[in-house]
Amino acid sequence: FIQNLIAEIQSSRINTSEELEVFRLKYLSKKGLIAQLFEDFKNVSGEKKKELGKPLNELKKLAEKIFDDAKNSIAAASLAENKGEDYTRPAGLLPVGSRHPVSQMIEEIVEIFSRIGFSVMDGPEIEDDWHNFTALNFPPEHPARDMQDTFFVTKNPDIALRTHTSNVQVRAMESMKPPIRILAPGRVYRNEAISARSHCFFHQIEGLYIDKKVSFADLKQTLLYFTESFFGKSNIRMRPSYFPFTEPSAEVDVYWGLNNEVDYRITKGTGWLEILGCGMVDPNVLKACGIDPEVYSGFAFGIGIERIAMNRYQIPDIRMLSENDMRFLKQF
Ligand code: PHE
Repeated sequence: FIQNLIAEIQSSRINTSEELEVFRLKYLSKKGLIAQLFEDFKNVSGEKKKELGKPLNELKKLAEKIFDDAKNSIAAASLAENKGEDYTRPAGLLPVGSRHPVSQMIEEIVEIFSRIGFSVMDGPEIEDDWHNFTALNFPPEHPARDMQDTFFVTKNPDIALRTHTSNVQVRAMESMKPPIRILAPGRVYRNEAISARSHCFFHQIEGLYIDKKVSFADLKQTLLYFTESFFGKSNIRMRPSYFPFTEPSAEVDVYWGLNNEVDYRITKGTGWLEILGCGMVDPNVLKACGIDPEVYSGFAFGIGIERIAMNRYQIPDIRMLSENDMRFLKQF
């Protein structure tokens, strides 16, 4: 019987994967013929065992070899048919993208301020006049309200693309009770001529701190903490400035160069880099947002992100940050 089976197996033709499976089920599966024979083998007498053991093992080996050979030749044939493409191979790894330099700067700055209790707040990019201008103490005839500087969304002069992230200051003070410590990163829009140095949209991070007895010294120390965390040991200078919503107001430059102790990231080039505008929140703004200026005071600042990213990565043209050129983006 075994010899007959061996002959039968040797003459079997396996050309397709379906035939291969039929073969496997018939001979090699758990309930197949060979498994059955091994099962029966347990019950035969000692004499017979000697006689049958060897051919039974040969039968099994033969069946396995025929199965493996057929399997390989079927795989080879399908490979040839698929013009060398092996559709069974594991897929390659997907290319992994990288973080945009602007996002990287935002993440880093948010992390630094979160260590001293600031949390992130979001606000709309399409904003009404109240939150972008009026509550921030912009006089009615202020030039920033002009078509020249602001993008209006419709014919309705009340709705525009926000010109700064300071709109989120207003929304924070309207919706929260002091102490308030928020950071608002986001995109802003200005109707400006596009050049290597300026674009009609860019990013800012707004900071706002309102509590009892917040002073200008607190503002300065907070900013120094930020520049030292971000740029390494650094010098800052505050230049007097003007914003309708802060009084007094200042612009802050960080010194990056010539100083050997300054972090490696900013040692290329020399001079002062302007990074933000800031000031003590004007009492008129507190009042407009429902906070009593007799009880509370606070400071605000607005950091320009592109400027910092361009400095950090030595990017010569602001337009590179929004052109989505893969050759540029791959470097980050
Ligand atoms: N909103 C100002 C700007 O866009 C920056 C600023 C924010 C100034 C907060 C003072 C306080 O230039």
